This record gives sequence, C-alpha cells and structure tokens, in this order.
Amino acid sequence: MNPVKIGILGLGTVGGGTVNVLRRNADEITRRAGREIQVCRASTRDLTRSRICDTTGIALTSDPYEIVADPDIQIVVETIGGETPARDLVMKALANGKHVVTANKMLIALHGNEIFAAARKHGLMVAFEAAVAGGIPIIKTIREGLAGNKVEWLAGIINGTSNFILTEMWEKGRDFADVLQEAQRLGYAEADPTFDIEGVDAAHKLTILASIAFGIPLQFGKVYIEGITGITAADVKYAEALGYRIKLLGIARRTPKGIELRVHPTLIPARRLIANVNGVMNAVLVKGDAVGPTLSYGAGAGAEPTASAVVADIVDVVRTLTSDPENRVPHLAFQPAAISEIPI
Ligand code: NDP
Ligand code: HSE
Repeated sequence: MNPVKIGILGLGTVGGGTVNVLRRNADEITRRAGREIQVCRASTRDLTRSRICDTTGIALTSDPYEIVADPDIQIVVETIGGETPARDLVMKALANGKHVVTANKMLIALHGNEIFAAARKHGLMVAFEAAVAGGIPIIKTIREGLAGNKVEWLAGIINGTSNFILTEMWEKGRDFADVLQEAQRLGYAEADPTFDIEGVDAAHKLTILASIAFGIPLQFGKVYIEGITGITAADVKYAEALGYRIKLLGIARRTPKGIELRVHPTLIPARRLIANVNGVMNAVLVKGDAVGPTLSYGAGAGAEPTASAVVADIVDVVRTLTSDPENRVPHLAFQPAAISEIPI
C-alpha cells in the first residue's frame, strides 16, 4: 500500500517534535497504523531558521496555503497556533477533503463548533489530543476509556507553564518573571505567554474537556478565569506553612443549575496526589459514576510529549482511511447540545 502523505503547518516546538517522533519510531508507528506515514511537506515562516528536526526529504514552504491545496496530502497537521491563519487553513483543508490533526486548543475552544460541523459535512476527521494536557491521552481517556460513565466532575493541572512557575517558586524561591522566561526558552509557553499565566490557556483546555466529558457545546465564554499573576513568593510560603500547595486548577462539575466551569489558583492539602504534581507535569482527575475517581498524569508541554499526542492522532486518522466514511468513528464524540445542562 502507498504511504499516507501528510503535510505539517508550522515546524516549531510541536511540529518539529512531531517530525522527530515520526522518524525515530517509524517502524512501530507503521505497524500500529497499518500504513507507512510520510511527511511530504511542511511550512514555516522563516525558512532559514534552525530547526529541532531534520527536514531532509520534506518540501519546505513559507506558504501554508500551498499545503492545504496540495491534492497529494491526505492529512494536514496544524501546529501554527492561534486563530489566524490557523482557522482559515483548517477550514480550507477540510473543504479540500483533508483530515486534520491539531494541537491548537485556542482554535478548538473558540471555533471547534464550526470546525466540527465542517468536518461532519465532508465526512472527515478532526483530532486534537495534543490540545489538552500535552502528552497525556486525556481526550481518549474520557471519550473512550470512560465512555460508560456519567462524569460527575473533573479537575486538573492543565497548564504546564504555570505549574512550572509555581513549582520553582515553591521549591527554590525563584522569581516569577525569571521562571517564565525559562519556560519560554524550553518551548512550554504559548507565543503570547500571558495566556499561560492569566489562566486563558487552561480555560481553552477546560472548555474542550468539559465538552467531551459532559456532551455540551464548546462555550469558552462561560469559564470563570483567574490566573497566577497575583501569586507571590510569600503566598507560596504561607500556603506551605499551613500544609497546602498552590496549584492552578481547571474545574468542571455538574451542579443542579448546569455545568460549572472555572480556572483559578487553588489551595490543595500537601498530602493529596495532585498537590505533588510538579514542574511541567500535568494531571487530570475525572470522577465517573461507575469507575469512581481516576487520575491521569504526564508531561503537559514540550516538543516530544506533545508530539506523542499528535502522532497518536495521526495514527488514529490513518486507521480510519480505509474504512467506509459512513461508518467512521466520528471526529470526536461531540454531540452538540446532547444534554440539557448549560454551563453557568
Ligand atoms: P512555535 O512557535 O514553536 O511554532 C509555530 C510554528 O508556526 C513555527 O514554524 C512558525 O514559523 C509557524 N508560524 C507561526 N505563525 C505563523 C503564521 N502567522 N503563518 C504561518 N506560520 C506561522 O509553537 P509551538 O510548536 O509551541 O505551538 C504550536 C501549537 O501547539 C500551538 O497551538 C500551541 O498552543 C500548541 N501546543 C504547544 C505545546 C508546547 O509545549 N509548545 C503543547 C501543546 C500544544 P517560524 O518558526 O518560522 O516563525
Ligand atoms: N503553553 C502550554 C502549557 C503548552 O504550558 O501548558 C501545552 O498546552
């Protein structure tokens, strides 16, 4: 069988990591996907910049629109980030009959309803495991592993940058701004790091998780958001003295009035597992009515942990390519307005 041809939009931390993982683990990935996967084309703004991946054999362009229009490309991987031009590129890729894999939580949280409608119309997949909690397969866990449950609540550390900052402040007494700069150097932070420290990135992710867990439409505007910029070294110290750690949590839970969505710094007793999730690590607790509480843990950001999730999505899409579009597992278990609760 011919290899499946993919094109990657954006060759930075995540796009570059994806190329590296696809190359290094090509044998395992081919076996699991049932087809060889070939990265044919990739786009990046500055073609002269040094890359974290070897681009031998990949046709590079500075124009991502060439890739979404290329008739040979079957899967478009969007790792540019942000709304513009990512939204337009993804919509054009779908209109051109290409499946989409994206790591872009802002795009899914703000425009997912429109994107999934387009995917459904064209019988295509849109996969976005990497958009939430980096390498932790939390979307598949909720959608597939917990499919038999009514989710009662979920709560998680879902921003690696802010957890890294809080951990370094607590462990080493380091300065907030200094740690943020290090998170940027390590490739953890968003292009605009205020999204990380103001809780907006976590709110994008919570929007997506809640939609899958509770079967509600994506409603980013309904999330209460408070970041960590008001947290001082003294706060971290006092919390420790009282037996607590401060963590930025995203919380979604059923209430009699609907689904409550909130992101804010939270005092957690130091003996709790989630209080001991440190550095760039993320963790998500999900309470299902049948299974009880579950905890998923892993790296929440960084090139290869995130690439792990992107590649898993590519493998998922490749597995469906030979299946009848009518019988394909949907791009995700989105059932807009499937239940009556509306987030408050
Ligand atoms: P980077 O900034 O490292 O890479 C972005 C890539 O897109 C670069 O190749 C850049 O080109 C290109 N690009 C940026 N803007 C444009 C534009 N306007 N038009 C065309 N190309 C553009 O970002 P990341 O890899 O860190 O993040 C990518 C996505 O993955 C984001 O949605 C992010 O939220 C998400 N994500 C990131 C994680 C991480 O740990 N970094 C983890 C999980 C998700 P050039 O380099 O030449 O400027
Ligand atoms: N900036 C994000 C974070 C990247 O720090 O968690 C992973 O989504």
